[in-house]
Amino acid sequence: MNMNYKLNSIVPWGRNLEEYKTMFSLSKQDLQKKILGCGDGPSSFNAELTALGGDVTSIDPIYEFTKEQLTKRIDEVAVEVMGMVRQYSSNFVWKNIKSPEELERVRMSAMRAFLADYQQGLEQKRYRFEILPNLSFENKRFDLALSSHFLFLYSEHLDFEFHLNAILEMLRVAEEVRIFPLMTLNNIYSPHLDKVREVLAERGYKSEIIKTEYEFQQGGDEMLKVSLCKNI
Ligand SMILES: C[S@@+](CC[C@H](N)C(=O)[O-])C[C@H]1O[C@@H](n2cnc3c(N)ncnc32)[C@H](O)[C@@H]1O
Repeated sequence: MNMNYKLNSIVPWGRNLEEYKTMFSLSKQDLQKKILGCGDGPSSFNAELTALGGDVTSIDPIYEFTKEQLTKRIDEVAVEVMGMVRQYSSNFVWKNIKSPEELERVRMSAMRAFLADYQQGLEQKRYRFEILPNLSFENKRFDLALSSHFLFLYSEHLDFEFHLNAILEMLRVAEEVRIFPLMTLNNIYSPHLDKVREVLAERGYKSEIIKTEYEFQQGGDEMLKVSLCKNI
């Protein structure tokens, strides 16, 4: 086992397809693309979109664990996370999700859908144990690579080099990258954002900040969209 990813140190917590659609402004055409979800964890994005005929691969260090191990950890974490959400409920925007009770229902139902799909998804190689900033896929294997609640959010733990290398690796395997949110866990813009965009521009990529309809973390309603500049 990779010592950096001990089961009792991870906090599995997953969103659903509807939330991914809103966070990343995914159009009908986007949903038909070959999609790579980076750090999808126990979200039901892959399970739900696959059931609708989509082509999604998810990578995450937690896919090293068995369904039984993840089920146990999800149940433990749900109690801790919901306790914190209730205690600090005024820190969140109850717009897309209206209350802590609804949040618990939505999150648990997403994670149950993930767990129900997990074994089959592992066999079909839709869930793959891979760790950014290195991916095993060939160049441009995907149309779109997504990062929800991983890059930028953990900027206090993951440095600028990590962010740049992870995003460049996502751009190596996909035509376009979208990242949501741009805020850290402390509700400030990621300190890496401007520098990452500057270096991406030097390397010939255009990046746009796009406001989306999704907001749960205060001010966290924007995504970064990155692709190669066509005129270079
Ligand atoms: C807060 S969760 C977000 C889960 C999901 N994307 C969502 O929005 O519901 C962050 C995820 O990033 C994963 N992660 C942590 N380090 C990673 C790395 N180096 N490469 C890829 N994923 C990583 C974690 O295991 C976890 O599942």
